[in-house]
Amino acid sequence: MERPMADTFWSEARARVLLDPGVANLNTGSFGPLSRPVFERVTRLRQRLAEEPMDFLLRQAPPLLWEARERLAGYLGGDPRRLIFAANVTAAVNMVASSLRLATPGEILLTDHEYGAMHWCWERAAQRQGLSVRTFALPIMASSPQEILAAFRAALAERTRLAFFSHVLSPTGLVLPVKEMCTEARQRGIMTMVDGAHAPAMIPVALNDSDCDFYGGNCHKWLLAPTGAGFLYVGRGTEDRLQPLQVSWGCSTNAMNSARRRACASTSSRGRAIRAPGWQCQRRLTFSRKSAGNASMLATANWRVTSASVCHFCRRRHQNGASCAAI
Ligand SMILES: Cc1ncc(COP(=O)(O)O)c(C=O)c1O
Repeated sequence: MERPMADTFWSEARARVLLDPGVANLNTGSFGPLSRPVFERVTRLRQRLAEEPMDFLLRQAPPLLWEARERLAGYLGGDPRRLIFAANVTAAVNMVASSLRLATPGEILLTDHEYGAMHWCWERAAQRQGLSVRTFALPIMASSPQEILAAFRAALAERTRLAFFSHVLSPTGLVLPVKEMCTEARQRGIMTMVDGAHAPAMIPVALNDSDCDFYGGNCHKWLLAPTGAGFLYVGRGTEDRLQPLQVSWGCSTNAMNSARRRACASTSSRGRAIRAPGWQCQRRLTFSRKSAGNASMLATANWRVTSASVCHFCRRRHQNGASCAAI
């Protein structure tokens, strides 16, 4: 007897991922399964790194990293220069919460449906800066995005400095009208960060259109990327608001003027720097080499601009060590 099409589709899809055949994985919301070609690609990259670390990190990884940023940014409707790889959305939120300075006194506003770990993250940030955290109730059975927007509008206050909310809520799967919420906050001079843990590949994401200040996301859930693949997107006007979490090569105050530092790949510290996106940004964000996964492994590489290589930003050659005017 012929099997129904849906059945064939899913059994073929199942055969392409590396899940143990004896396991029924119902939790893609935590970690998506890995497909065989992706696993093989990551393994090949790890092998290349092991075989020739200097060549891989200095020469091979930067163009691979840039290509990955371009492709992910294209998929998410964003500018690759504003997209930074992170180990996961938790890392992306921590980058912002640990570094962004907000005016005091004031508060950070969250919905009452945010992921617990993110809530703690903002609690700590608030404590450190003398701010408070407030949650507001989302309409549980909202019948329209307008209802959610109305609750959000009513919750925004004079003392709100930043609003944090999920694109797709973890407890219910409800999709919030993030663009309208970000626009509303922006009009009142309130910053926004969107938790896009579940959005990529689950729903369309249009980063450039979203009007948010920061958007963190995961690729290792619904996009089925290797574990350790997440990102932070820095919206317009916020390029200069973040500080590097780890100080390493590239983080010195005169880093922009130092050809040697620009070309230098750190061997003495765990952190390698990549330039934070943004044309005026003079700072760099660092990523831990300990992080697992393809994207974070690639994110450990330094950008180099030398006469021997094509600039990853403008795709032209510069004078030896000269900085790129496009950045
Ligand atoms: C809404 C939300 N935010 C953040 C996270 C944290 O994701 P990760 O551990 O990949 O950083 C999750 C995890 O499921 C989540 O559901």
